[in-house]
Amino acid sequence: MTEPVGLHFAHARAPGKINVFLKVGQLQSDGYHELATAFQAVSLYEDVRAYPAADFSVSFSGSIDTTALVTDGSNLAIKAARLLAKKTGYRGGVRLEIEKNVPIAGGMGGGSADAAATLVACDALWGTAASRDELVSLAAQLGADVPFALSGGTAIGTGRGDQLSPALAKGRFHWVLAIAEFGMSTPEVYSALDRHREKHAQDIYPATLQPVVDTEVLQALRAGDARQLAEALHNDLQAPALGLAPGLGRILELGEQMGALAGIVSGSGPTLAFLVPDADSALELQVALSASRLTALRVTGPVHGARLVQEW
Ligand code: C5P
Repeated sequence: MTEPVGLHFAHARAPGKINVFLKVGQLQSDGYHELATAFQAVSLYEDVRAYPAADFSVSFSGSIDTTALVTDGSNLAIKAARLLAKKTGYRGGVRLEIEKNVPIAGGMGGGSADAAATLVACDALWGTAASRDELVSLAAQLGADVPFALSGGTAIGTGRGDQLSPALAKGRFHWVLAIAEFGMSTPEVYSALDRHREKHAQDIYPATLQPVVDTEVLQALRAGDARQLAEALHNDLQAPALGLAPGLGRILELGEQMGALAGIVSGSGPTLAFLVPDADSALELQVALSASRLTALRVTGPVHGARLVQEW
């Protein structure tokens, strides 16, 4: 059993992500689909501050409206802290304060970033000294995107999206995000894809095949070539997401008309990610989208995964 140690505070930060490529294979018996995806971590962060406490609690603040978030034991950050305590035999609790910047239910892995940063912060606060491999294994138990929020950078995900291998990536990519005022349920978007595939089973071959990441994507990432990556962006969840939220299609067109190299639904949506050639174009597109009364943010990628910012 690990006894509580003397730290008073630990602050960890983890990034949101964009899936620059996402191919969905068959639904498995565990309720998850087999995936082939390329993740890029981007410069929009969740900050988790952890303080010693006898039990487990979480509160939220940040640049976005967090009133809809649950703060009971079903919250992923609490689950992460409890899981680490259980696995390491730590007997205390933690008070978590999370500053949210990644859109909620936006398809950018904000909840997964909370869980990843919580693992890192609690490990430091409690002095449980888990290895990186141990943290990755706990992350995979918490959700398909949590291992990537730990690793960050650019990576290929297979299995549920949780089996990661690093991808070679050069330079920095510039993105403009169009943030929706609503969230979307990831399981609902996957179900919409399944329904569509069942209905059109004869016309669709890929769902039965093992999904793989296109070589064009890997080449574009390796070359750091935004124009090449724009050509290769792909997301199987885009069509079902647009089916559930048709207004997004118009915004995708708008962004492309306003100068984006290409736009894509991020993960299961509804956040839209527009790839642009450089920082100046990002600013121009952000201004243009804002003038159309859309909430637009500029981010770059790849950035690092969950890491400790401060402790005392
Ligand atoms: O792992 P996570 O909790 O983020 O996944 C949320 C939901 O998204 C799953 O319960 C499942 O319905 C769907 N999902 C899936 N296949 C994946 C990843 C997620 O069907 N590979």
